[in-house]
Order: sequence, then C-alpha cells, then structure tokens
Amino acid sequence: MVNFKKLGLSIAIAASLVAFSGVSLSGEALEVGKVGVTAQIQGLERVTQELVAPPFLPKHDQVAKGGPQIVEMTMEIVEKEMEIAPGVFVQAMTFEGTNPGPMIVAHVNDYVELTLKNPKTNTMVHNIDFHASTGALGGGGLTNVAPGEQVVLRFKATKAGVFVYHCAPGGIMIPYHVVSGMNGAIMILPREGLKDEKGQLVTYDKAYYIGEQDWYVPQDKDGKFKRYDAPVIAMGDTMEVMKTLTPTHLTFNGKVGALTGENAMTAKVDETVLFIHSQANRDSRVHLIGGHGDLVWRGGSFNDTPATNLETWSVVGGEAAAALYTFKQPGLYAYVNHNLIEAIMLGAAAHVTVEGEWNNDLMEQVQKPGPIQ
Ligand code: CU
Ligand code: CU
Repeated sequence: MVNFKKLGLSIAIAASLVAFSGVSLSGEALEVGKVGVTAQIQGLERVTQELVAPPFLPKHDQVAKGGPQIVEMTMEIVEKEMEIAPGVFVQAMTFEGTNPGPMIVAHVNDYVELTLKNPKTNTMVHNIDFHASTGALGGGGLTNVAPGEQVVLRFKATKAGVFVYHCAPGGIMIPYHVVSGMNGAIMILPREGLKDEKGQLVTYDKAYYIGEQDWYVPQDKDGKFKRYDAPVIAMGDTMEVMKTLTPTHLTFNGKVGALTGENAMTAKVDETVLFIHSQANRDSRVHLIGGHGDLVWRGGSFNDTPATNLETWSVVGGEAAAALYTFKQPGLYAYVNHNLIEAIMLGAAAHVTVEGEWNNDLMEQVQKPGPIQ
C-alpha cells in the first residue's frame, strides 16, 4: 500500500522547489529581509491581534488612537479535507483552517508582523503574498515554509484599503493553492477613519467579511464528485477541471450555505454595516437584494472617493472591495454574486437577517395578490 502522506510530501516539496527556482528570488529576497529592524520601528508599541474566523473581523478601532503600532499575529497553515457542499469534499489548503483565511485589520503606517507556521503534519510548501505590501512578491519570496517550519514577516502598511492575501508557492502551485482555498483579506484603514464622498468621517456599526471561492471538483464517469486522500493526489484531476475555467462550486465562506439560514449575517434597521468581499482568483459582482451599496470602494482603495448608491459592484479576481450600507427595512436580504446562475446554482449566496420596524413610506403592499378584476 502506498503511503499517500509520505508520497505527497516528497512530490509537493520537489514540485515547489522546482517552482521556486523558476522565480529565483528567494535568495536575493532573504538578503533584503536581513536588513533588520530599522530606526523607525524601534520604540513602537506592539499589539497582538487575535484573529477570528470569517465572517467576523478582529477587534479594531475605526479611527486610530495614537501613533503607528506593530500589529502582530500568528497564522497556522491547515491542510484539511473540507465539505464545500453536502457530500462534496475537497483537499483544502487554508490559513487558520477557514476559507477565506481570517481578516487582518491595521491602519496606514502600522507595521503588520505575521508569524506563519506550517506544521509538520502538512504535506506542502506554502507562503503568503500580501497585496497590501510592497516588495519580494508581496512577501511570497520571504515566506516559503516547508512542513515543520515557521517564518516571521513584517511589512509596513502604506496603502489604505482592503486587499487580498494568498499563498503563492511558485509555478502551477500558485493557482492550485489559491483555488484550494488558500486566500484571505486584510483591511488597512486610514488613520483618520473612512470618509464618504464629501470627505466626511463615516463609521460602521458592524462589519462582515465575505470570501468568495471558486472550486474545481473532479467528477467520475457518473458525474459523482470525487474524493481524494491528500492535496497532491487531487492535483492532477483538479488541474484538468481548472483548465476549463468553469468552477463546479462557488462558495461564500467555504461552504454552500455557510452564511444562509441560521448562519445568516444579522443587522438592525438604522445600523450601518461594512461588507468586505474578496475573490482571489475570479471576477464577481456583488448585489444586496432589496438594498444598495450606499458607499462602495470599488477596487478596495480607501484613498479613492467612494461611489454612491450602487445596485451592483464588481470585484475583480485578485481584489477585495468594501461597501457600506445602512439598513432601512427589516426582513431577509440576499447578498449574492449577481451572475444568478453562480448564486443560485453554484452557491455564491448569503443572507442578512434584519430586525426592526417596517417603513410603509419606503414600500407598501397596496393590495394583496388576488384574482384579476
Ligand atoms: Cu499554499
Ligand atoms: Cu496575488
């Protein structure tokens, strides 16, 4: 009997090493990393951010208090089988065991210092590329860790906005890891907080993080979704499905229905909610059925003037976007990818349950459905 775990480990490491040499940056980049602690960060306050599972965000201040900080956190890479729809399993690769990985929050001019751990029980080399960072493939060139290793990366948050992060271990492993779930988002807030289209401070009462994931699950001759023992075993078949560019499933937060029914997001009438939506690989289009994007940072940059009163906003593959909405009516709202085939048939849908008083001025059923008169 073949030891799949062991086989997987050696193949994965070999493949990743080949892939690194194609990039040929890791040696050079390590020298850059050795420059070490600069004068600017000595004496800055260190704070530890406790990461939480999506759709929630870690505790944070919307307007920064005091000067820049070093915001430190730890993420563990978790390879595990995940059920992405009833009876459909994938060999997922994740940051912290969730898809998407946890949201990180900091402010402009803070330093983000991540300890990334790849436990020896894993089978693959992984790393992290922060779109929010500058240099060394977004940190990917400095963070390659084999099973049993950890690495510490620090970068300065110079750009305000919401950004994707993802694993990018080189070559074909890059798309494979990203569509196996290994991505998340980081929010870098302006120190003075978010501003509306007139430049006035706006705040949110709560924030939710929705990570959209395209999955490419192989099927057998009878159309039954196949199940594998390790990521490296699933890779060949999965690559064939990936080449079609046609996902078999699209999820919000790792499983069809992860944010619907009892797991719905919640809000109250007059509450302002910030929705952050990321898609690390594929284009999407977000729509809140029955609501709007009052303020939308398309492309995710908080230095840009937000668009106002949008019906649907695009999220291009490889970016995150943010939208602020103040709920005006109670009830059930569907938050969807408005390719409705993708929403209803592939799974890209969530719910927001809103409590409060109905406003007849905004909408009223003047006459109940009945026979035509
Ligand atoms: Cu990875
Ligand atoms: Cu990227």
